[in-house]
Amino acid sequence: MEYRKLGRTGLMVSELCLGTMTFGNEADEETSKRVTDRFIEAGGNFIDTADVYSKGLSEEITGRAIKDYRDDVVLATKFRFPMGDGPNDRGASRKHIVAACEASLKRLGTDYIDLYQIHCWDAHTPPEETMAALDDLVRSGKVLYTGCSNFSGWQIEKSLRVSERYGLARFDCLQPQYSLVVRDIEHEVLPVCREEGLGVIPWSPLAGGFLTGKYSREDAPPENTRMAAWTDTWERHATPEKFDIVDRVSGIAGGRGKEPAQVALNWVKDRPGVTSPIIGARDVDQLEKNLGATGWSLDPGEQDVLEEASALPYAYPYNMIARANA
Ligand SMILES: NC(=O)c1ccc[n+]([C@@H]2O[C@H](COP(=O)([O-])OP(=O)(O)OC[C@H]3O[C@@H](n4cnc5c(N)ncnc54)[C@H](OP(=O)(O)O)[C@@H]3O)[C@@H](O)[C@H]2O)c1
Repeated sequence: MEYRKLGRTGLMVSELCLGTMTFGNEADEETSKRVTDRFIEAGGNFIDTADVYSKGLSEEITGRAIKDYRDDVVLATKFRFPMGDGPNDRGASRKHIVAACEASLKRLGTDYIDLYQIHCWDAHTPPEETMAALDDLVRSGKVLYTGCSNFSGWQIEKSLRVSERYGLARFDCLQPQYSLVVRDIEHEVLPVCREEGLGVIPWSPLAGGFLTGKYSREDAPPENTRMAAWTDTWERHATPEKFDIVDRVSGIAGGRGKEPAQVALNWVKDRPGVTSPIIGARDVDQLEKNLGATGWSLDPGEQDVLEEASALPYAYPYNMIARANA
């Protein structure tokens, strides 16, 4: 496992981050512990959770799993989605941020969060309020770095300008959706992160398992899979164009003696501007396969095959800007 700098910070994180969205859901506590221990044993040091995963249970399980090596882990969590029915049990207001951070610290059984992320832009709270509340958490030592997830390009820029204007801690990391079948961030969001020196930690790098090659055009998703449970995601992905991309991934995997999942993860991991894809696993077998995405590289010919199958057409103004600057 290699380590990469998180954006312009001095923090070193493993080239794969372990996602814990399955903890307390598809993976029971014992399995989650085995997955976590195996990830650490393989050299991983970066773990991502969120208050909302399994309604807090993922944070509790993660906290117990890492308790013997807490300080060796770069622990990331998130706030913003509803954790209760009250009007302030959600969002990015100062009131919710302070309460959400205290609750996450308690569930995680720790006194600091390495990377505290807002889970999605909150259109109802001024960014000045959000950034000042996060800055207070950094100054108090409860949070070391801050980041955002599911932000557009202008929302990232706006937040950075607010931090700059008032001398507040700034976002050092973005957590966006990014995979061979969801490349939208390449138009605006990824260039902003590269320009501003933000780390990028993509979620769903396997498109929730779609890119593992275990689904077919003809059959409904097998039981006990993400795609069987999340019908909206399945409907978004199960298009002829996206299955063509899976075919190219499987073709390259066959020629290389790799798993399709390893090819798809390797592609995300080595995209310019990407720090660490966040890998999800329901058990140690899946994790073991996904760890095999490290230690090798796709060659330029293979990159071209994937590019040709998956590149998104550039819309205005990106197409005009690209032409004018070619
Ligand atoms: N910020 C956000 O909004 C956001 C959103 C989603 C996720 N996340 C973060 O990103 C992490 C990863 O997201 P994700 O779980 O969607 O990632 P993913 O890697 O795209 O999908 C993981 C799922 O794919 C299947 N899978 C994984 N490896 C496999 C293999 N080798 N063979 C066959 N199937 C395999 C498993 O589902 P099945 O076995 O059920 O098929 C697994 O749960 C999460 O844990 C979370 O930390 C963040």
